[in-house]
Amino acid sequence: MTSAFLDRRRPYEEVQRAARVKREQESFDDGLQRARYDDALSHCQAYWHDAVLRLCRKTILADGARDVLEIGSHGWAMLFDAATPTPKNLHCINISQRELENGREKATSRNVNITFRQMDAHALDYEDNSFDVVFGFGILHHLDYEAALDEIHRVLRPGGKMIFNEPLDMNPVGRLVRRLTPEARTIDEAPLRGKHLRLFHERFDVSYYPQQFLSVPAGLLSRLLAKSPRNPFMRAAFAADQVLAKAPGLRFWFRKTVIIGVKDG
Ligand SMILES: C[S@@+](CC[C@H](N)C(=O)[O-])C[C@H]1O[C@@H](n2cnc3c(N)ncnc32)[C@H](O)[C@@H]1O
Repeated sequence: MTSAFLDRRRPYEEVQRAARVKREQESFDDGLQRARYDDALSHCQAYWHDAVLRLCRKTILADGARDVLEIGSHGWAMLFDAATPTPKNLHCINISQRELENGREKATSRNVNITFRQMDAHALDYEDNSFDVVFGFGILHHLDYEAALDEIHRVLRPGGKMIFNEPLDMNPVGRLVRRLTPEARTIDEAPLRGKHLRLFHERFDVSYYPQQFLSVPAGLLSRLLAKSPRNPFMRAAFAADQVLAKAPGLRFWFRKTVIIGVKDG
């Protein structure tokens, strides 16, 4: 009874998803206006940015990962450089041609070998068990979480890892900044809420690295008072947040989180 009901609904869900993917593609091909949003939050993330990149590099390159997929390229450009070479087989997919072109230009200027493909993350054109790691920055919240996580799980090898850095919905200051900068986002994007987090736990063994709690109001203030985001005030907020991130119940009130999931080995 239930499955017949779900089967009848499926074509409608697929039509809706296709329309959503098209809207995302058009938004990123046209280019979003992110300057005001990025500027408002520039001081909040200064120290966090380095810490997140360190964690991502360590997680992606652990255990000699060879086959790596980035969804919603081009975060690889922040992670890999002369000191940290790109994994042997790095694939980057994006639904937007413009975003892919940006990635290709970066790869050419750095002389690194990356396979770029235009692809919808809800329907990955890869065999089951193809990758050691799948990663991305600020991409899952642009997708239908359930369909995308199914695909990520499918293409990961047993014991493989996913690692994504995504915004959380509950942080009140983060919400306010999002509300004040509508030009910086697509109409379909949905920062992580409890109902989405459950979908990760159903598929993976999950851990979190929350970022920016006091750093968000502190960052807005610091931006008005100081030129550089790297100042003693922001360093203190960063240190305090690292302690607060360990408090049970508080981590989902941070502005963002890295989410790491391991597929059963
Ligand atoms: C907020 S941007 C993040 C871009 C990049 N990861 C970064 O950190 O700068 C979201 C990206 O997701 C891509 N995207 C949206 N929907 C997609 C889909 N269904 N499949 C693949 N990529 C998609 C967009 O084109 C865009 O490049």
